[in-house]
Amino acid sequence: MNEQELEHVAKALVTAGKGLLAADESSHTCEKRFASVGVECTEGTRREYRQLLLTTPRMREYLSGVIFFDETFWQATDSGQPFREYLDTNQVIPGVKVDKGLIDLPGFANEKITQGLDGLPDQMADYAHAGAKFAKWRAVITIGDGIPTDECIRANAFVLARYARICQEEGIVPLVEPEVLYDGNHSIDQCEAVMARVFDSLFQTMRAFRTYLPGVILKTSMVLPGKDSGAPMDYDQVAKQTRRVLHEHVPHELGGVVFLSGGQKPNDAFINLNRIAKSGSNPWGLTFSYSRALQDPVLKAWAKNRHAINATQQLFQRQLFFASAASKGELNESSLERDDFVSHSQDL
Ligand code: 13P
Repeated sequence: MNEQELEHVAKALVTAGKGLLAADESSHTCEKRFASVGVECTEGTRREYRQLLLTTPRMREYLSGVIFFDETFWQATDSGQPFREYLDTNQVIPGVKVDKGLIDLPGFANEKITQGLDGLPDQMADYAHAGAKFAKWRAVITIGDGIPTDECIRANAFVLARYARICQEEGIVPLVEPEVLYDGNHSIDQCEAVMARVFDSLFQTMRAFRTYLPGVILKTSMVLPGKDSGAPMDYDQVAKQTRRVLHEHVPHELGGVVFLSGGQKPNDAFINLNRIAKSGSNPWGLTFSYSRALQDPVLKAWAKNRHAINATQQLFQRQLFFASAASKGELNESSLERDDFVSHSQDL
């Protein structure tokens, strides 16, 4: 592996004022999201929708990278240019989600493990050859009665570390995503404690598996009270506890840190990021890697009128602008319109 090259790409992904668009929803997840807005979900409509996002004017000012699902990674614009090459010509870095989704962790009720390591080295070589510069693997940790267990945390840390090292062998920057779910009725303190356990296990295992940490990006949840806890969203508290768990449990030599939106209302995801960015300097570049917070209103608008491309792209541009400003701690929070979008289900 070329460590310098990995570090260079990792740093580019967290360039100040830019972030990532997660457009890597599986066909199954797209099926549910499109159904919720009444659009038929076919390979063609998925391509049409992703093209609308990617060809949005000025997206390159706000995006450092885009994460694709395998199908989209190989798709092309109307003029036949593969999406990944289109991004490359716009100085936006193409990446791909490589895990094969969640299955139950046998023996551990309500806990999940992510599959997809078998055959991954060969697949990774194909993606690298086709121009992927980074990859994503999502693990899921659920907070509940007696969970997460140490066994679930360790099993997921193991596959994330193995995956990360496979990426780096092919010169691909791994985004390691141990998503601690927003679902549940836990407190914000419980969330912080779980995230600390997850990070400790993950980075200990990644070191053991000889991953080059400056060439790795962490994709993480924020520290939040559970969605069903009834606790109000206290933005400053979220910023304080998110910052604390990251500073105390994430190696400072890591290549960068990006946040998922996790089913928060889009405006909450922007304000929380803004408060985190405002609350002081960090050892790593820190930005967004959102799917739902960027896309929810856009998908709705597109579904209403698929011919109103300019207006829908303007809406997407506005979401990108908010996320970019928030990542610098420069978001004018009062400029956010009140919205009542509630994000769709959490699975990707
Ligand atoms: P959300 O921003 O919708 O949580 O999605 C980001 C992501 O990539 C989760 O894996």
